[in-house]
Amino acid sequence: TNTYTIAVIPGDGIGKEVTPWAQRALERAAEGVAEFTFEPFDLGAERYLRDGAILPKEDLDRIKTTDAILLGAVGDPRIKAGILERGLLLKLRFELDQYVNLRPSKLYEGVTSPLRDPGTIDFVVVREGTEGLYCGSGGSVRVDTPEEVATEVSINTAYGAERVVRYAFELANKRRKHVTLVHKKNVLVHAGDMWQRIVDRVGREYPDVTHDYCHIDAATIYLVSDPSRFDVILTDNLFGDILTDEAGMVVGGVGYSASGCINASREYPSMFEPIHGSAPDIAGQGKANPTAAILSAAMLLRHLGFEEQADRLDAAVEADIAEQGSLERTTDEIGQAILDRIRRSLFAQSARRL
Ligand code: NAD
Ligand code: IPM
Ligand code: MN
Repeated sequence: TNTYTIAVIPGDGIGKEVTPWAQRALERAAEGVAEFTFEPFDLGAERYLRDGAILPKEDLDRIKTTDAILLGAVGDPRIKAGILERGLLLKLRFELDQYVNLRPSKLYEGVTSPLRDPGTIDFVVVREGTEGLYCGSGGSVRVDTPEEVATEVSINTAYGAERVVRYAFELANKRRKHVTLVHKKNVLVHAGDMWQRIVDRVGREYPDVTHDYCHIDAATIYLVSDPSRFDVILTDNLFGDILTDEAGMVVGGVGYSASGCINASREYPSMFEPIHGSAPDIAGQGKANPTAAILSAAMLLRHLGFEEQADRLDAAVEADIAEQGSLERTTDEIGQAILDRIRRSLFAQSARRL
């Protein structure tokens, strides 16, 4: 069996509660095929409050040598917004050049969608992960005066857009062969125009894949009025952030939404994390749904090439949801039920082989 080193950053709040279940599910699903050495990193609010460190260079260098990263969530009400989010999470995405932020949304049988008539929901958001308004370019002058001016600059490069556009078309080619570019090109004419031209040009290389365009405001409508129209949604960093929380909600809540921050060129490790945050409102109560974290572990398996094992993990989650639905259960009850299912499916498989 192959051994992989996984950096684990549970982080803050419910991140600490759900990540152990992602680790257990990962180990269990890959039993007999791969082994994982988990390397925990003490990063997040506690560390920052203790010694002021956010992401020390030694930690970053060490993380760069691992095969993949599991992250829970970062952010703590005791700490000014942005310090950990930018200094830890975004720094990792940028330094590790995780330019594809992959966020699938699927409505599982048994989950209650808030939509009256949800139909079939099965789409993937390909969110650009290293550019746009997230670059941190900008600043403030005359702070705290009536003349204060604050700027946030959105940086969009052809290089940065083209690589995610290609990723989206490749992905669509393996799915239902449709890409929807979501932007706001009626207002953000410079970046919008560039994205559209790149989509048109790259799209010509994929004659089997159709593509269309949707403004971000209308996209939020269609996501609740007609979500089955979407296959691959391609969008920039900020629009993708907003749209995927909404997407999580239409498939039953962010507790079911996994993501991968992918360095598709495989120069650096990719990172797998639920799309939700540290949820201070429910932290410490054992209420957080670990499903999103567990599905993120399945994405990690797929990324490392363990398709069959990732399928097994996905199937265990799907079956758990089908049986239990949106029933109120604790973090540990859900985590344990999914682990038991993986064990049963491994057992059934070895029995078939006998
Ligand atoms: P949030 O995602 O933490 O919570 C939004 C709502 O969803 C809350 O009501 C919460 O209770 C609920 N929720 C989230 N995950 C859940 C789960 N697994 N099971 C059940 N309910 C769940 O977003 P927020 O409140 O805007 O942010 C809280 C903190 O997390 C902030 O500091 C923010 O910056 C940070 N954040 C971090 C990440 C990340 O690390 N990837 C993502 C989003 C937000
Ligand atoms: C997410 C989060 C992050 C983002 C924040 C915490 C930086 O909201 O992963 O969706 O905006 O990407
Ligand atoms: Mn978000």
